[in-house]
Amino acid sequence: MGKVPNIVTPPPGPKSKALVEKRNDLIPPGVYLVQPVTIAESKGAVMKDVDGNSYIDFTSGIGVTSLGHCADEIVETISEQASKIIHTCIHVVNYEPYLDLAQKLIEVTPGAFKKRAILLNSGSEAVENAIKVVRQSTGRPNILSFENSFHGRTYMALTLTGKWDPYKVGLGPFVPGVYFTPFPYAYRCPWGTDDPEECGKAAIHHIEKNIFKTQVDPSTVGAIITEPIQGEGGFIVPPDSFLPDLKGLCEEHGIQLIIDEIQTGYARTGKMWAIEHWGVEPDLMTIAKAIASGLPLSAVVARDELMKDIYPGSLGGTYGGNPIACAAALKVLEMIEREKIVDKAAALGVKLGKRLDEFYDKYEVIGEVRGKGPMLAMEMVKDRGSRKPNPEAASNVMKAALASGLLTLKAGLYNNCIRLHPPLTIEDELLEKGLDILEKALKKA
Ligand SMILES: Cc1ncc(COP(=O)(O)O)c(C=O)c1O
Repeated sequence: MGKVPNIVTPPPGPKSKALVEKRNDLIPPGVYLVQPVTIAESKGAVMKDVDGNSYIDFTSGIGVTSLGHCADEIVETISEQASKIIHTCIHVVNYEPYLDLAQKLIEVTPGAFKKRAILLNSGSEAVENAIKVVRQSTGRPNILSFENSFHGRTYMALTLTGKWDPYKVGLGPFVPGVYFTPFPYAYRCPWGTDDPEECGKAAIHHIEKNIFKTQVDPSTVGAIITEPIQGEGGFIVPPDSFLPDLKGLCEEHGIQLIIDEIQTGYARTGKMWAIEHWGVEPDLMTIAKAIASGLPLSAVVARDELMKDIYPGSLGGTYGGNPIACAAALKVLEMIEREKIVDKAAALGVKLGKRLDEFYDKYEVIGEVRGKGPMLAMEMVKDRGSRKPNPEAASNVMKAALASGLLTLKAGLYNNCIRLHPPLTIEDELLEKGLDILEKALKKA
């Protein structure tokens, strides 16, 4: 792709602008746009727009193209599978890529117990199906979710999402049987403590002593769903005791623990699954995003006893587990293993973390740097004393980064976090160039 980054006309250039105007005319604004550029091609950690600008990509299409855009082996696998079977529908006839992938996912997810897997199209659909499995198999209708979480945009996934604006605005009523409790967001701990461990313990205590006493009978709660690290919520890592304690609480009350690894899975945090950082074995896991390097695919992997008697016909869909997406997903897993992507991700996390810590030391506008492995974010504040959110600073930095050829993403309840989702295979040179651009942009916060 030649020189990278390469800004030949200030972005958005005239062609990008015209195409974004076309978009604004054709597509509802509900489909939001972070970066006002129109991309023509992408490869590895680079995206090139219709005006000839090329950018370093620190977004990976929201953590999807973790092996880089259009990796040669993925492209070859897709075209090979496309000449064999494009679609039959798993409800009509059986096919092997679905079974091979289900088997692999069962092998690579935590828990040595017997499991089953179902394949769907999107993260939201995986969440929907995890809840269906829990409700039908346990007979318990209620679900506990966390404030500041994100689980998707279909109605159950949206109901479970703990952020109102923009996701839920004007969309109620939501699905009955969903309750919320605060997540231990230690930087802004809802219980007013500055000690992360205390915050984690308070979060568990609140479920036991408040939610289960005043809002819902725990014997009617089928599942607690949580992201191991809140993604859209601003890369919020819970205190170390929290997830093991949550699992303990679930066991005490016969509640299933659903771990939503849609954003955190596939080495994004320096381990294959984020939950491995805490040694917890989920009863159900939802998986999507990086699973098939950009093809629409998702999965629910769950304990056999939850899945084995699900009523025939009550799960699935026309496209779920599309053969081309399954073939790509099998190649992704092969590449992760062969290329030692988990180790590479951990090493990338160390490099990124070092630079972000240096930024924190230099720029007061950064209130906190947090995350695990290469899944790192900076929370921008008006000042470190008040911790008042500074979404304008996050926007300014992202705009300045774009102008110099770096694509980044926002996150957080207050839209004040800059989150980094580079491809896990990004070359050192591009990583450093990207970080240099980010540092220059931080001066314009
Ligand atoms: C943790 C988590 N769950 C669910 C979803 C929803 O996935 P999708 O957008 O594929 O429906 C997302 C998407 O960002 C996510 O981060």
